[in-house]
Amino acid sequence: MFNLWYKNAVVYCVDVETFQDSDGDGIGDFKGLTSRLDHIEALGATCIWLLPFYPSPNRDNGYDVADYYNVDPRYGTLGDFVEFAHAAHERGLRVLVDLVVNHSSIEHPWFQASRAGDPKYRDWYVWRKTKPEDAEKGVIFPGVQKTTWTRDTKRKEYYFHRFYEHQADLNIANPQVREEIERIMGFWLALGVSGFRMDAVPFMLEDLSSAHSGWEPHRYLSQLQTFLSWRRSEAILLAEANIPMEEAPDYFGTGDRLHVIFNFPLNQKMFLAFARGEAGPVADFVKALPDIPQTAQWATFLRNHDEIDLGRLEDGEREEVFAAFGPEEDMQLYDRGLRRRLAPMLGGDERRLAMAFSVMLALPGMPVLWYGDEIGMGEDLSLSERHAVRTPMQWRGTLPNGGFSDAAPKDCVRPVVADGPFGYRHINAERQMLEIDSLFCRVRNLIRARRGAAEIGWGKPEVVDVGDPAVLALRTGWQDGEVLTVHNMADRPALARLPDGLDLSDVRPLLSSGARIDGEERTLRLDAYGFEWFRLKGK
Ligand code: GLC
Repeated sequence: MFNLWYKNAVVYCVDVETFQDSDGDGIGDFKGLTSRLDHIEALGATCIWLLPFYPSPNRDNGYDVADYYNVDPRYGTLGDFVEFAHAAHERGLRVLVDLVVNHSSIEHPWFQASRAGDPKYRDWYVWRKTKPEDAEKGVIFPGVQKTTWTRDTKRKEYYFHRFYEHQADLNIANPQVREEIERIMGFWLALGVSGFRMDAVPFMLEDLSSAHSGWEPHRYLSQLQTFLSWRRSEAILLAEANIPMEEAPDYFGTGDRLHVIFNFPLNQKMFLAFARGEAGPVADFVKALPDIPQTAQWATFLRNHDEIDLGRLEDGEREEVFAAFGPEEDMQLYDRGLRRRLAPMLGGDERRLAMAFSVMLALPGMPVLWYGDEIGMGEDLSLSERHAVRTPMQWRGTLPNGGFSDAAPKDCVRPVVADGPFGYRHINAERQMLEIDSLFCRVRNLIRARRGAAEIGWGKPEVVDVGDPAVLALRTGWQDGEVLTVHNMADRPALARLPDGLDLSDVRPLLSSGARIDGEERTLRLDAYGFEWFRLKGK
């Protein structure tokens, strides 16, 4: 029997390096993270996703792995990892780890052996004697990355790298590489993880080789799921796959491939809706959502550790989002995105921020939060590329480095945001725990409501027309229950008229900021950025 915990999990994403330093060297570590589980538990998350923490030259925040079977000594030891995983489980928190096997670091011994022509590893990467004509096409980091094929001086051939040139693509078409991927998964499953956030899945499935014909990339996902379920029945694959909705069936299969896929298109529509103060972009998207297998799930998110990728919006729409949330060139990245945190984009307005979290939590899928957003942290645009949104967690207003580390500020892995309205003296976890109307407490209450509304994880929402373009009203039913969520996305009050088809005979507030449905008029008045959740049926 499947264990479908991920249909209603709430995931909190952490970068060990920037969460909590326990030994004063300026670098976050597993002991530090373990000491901060209280915060994650208090927020109401049920699962932690760790960004890569493996040994790495760290030229892409750990996404350039040099050893898949270890912990980078800067963060601790394998023993510290197991202590952390145990402590998380004690609190009922599951752990997902990043599986970055589209590519490895060029410093990985496999690549070093491959470039040296070692027969065992010759074919582990994607090599060509001459540079393909389209080498300059399809770079992922335009403006920073020039090509996808780089000449290796030792082997005197070109190797393929979809991402930075220090990240050589593994040749997944090679059965030995696929066997090794299973070994890596088996290793971390044995250490107690509940699955993997799988990096760059569409790129991993690109088949650039002809040597191993017969390999069927999308079917490979079924093999991975089978392997996982044999080793640990509850384990999942949470895929980074920025795909159009039409391709979802290839990735979900009949429920036998990926369990969860990040809904990147929805993320872009949310920001368009926030920019316009109109529900339309999200409502239209929800209406067109394809059916997915019952055992599959979307992952919904506001922000993550990368830029907001707006590449799937039309040019004019992207310009609208840029104008609203990232008008300065320095805020934009890779011709498609914004390297900003949520809170500064929404002007630090806690009502609007809470509304944004509420929308995300009301949409179908498994919500995933990026650490620090729950307290409204800001970004540091003086840092390069995506590092702007990866500054250390702000714990206390009264300690140096915001309580992240006892090291001298210059020795911290990245500077803590100290100045301006988002500096740690104003924005920190300790203060927000104590103030009952803080963003942290609001997000916590929202998560509590979401966990009490399993319909949202299981059901498919219906958009309810309430007569005001600023209002997103969603009704989601599952089995005997039904939930209604109503959000005013605009900076002005709104009046929602609830249609006759909606049965209000047993309506109860599930999460309320005080607005009440007027039963006779069937109307609901919402403040600017106001929202309300109701239970229409069920317990
Ligand atoms: C994914 C990660 C990103 C990384 C890239 C290459 O997109 O989210 O941070 O740079 O893969 O591994």
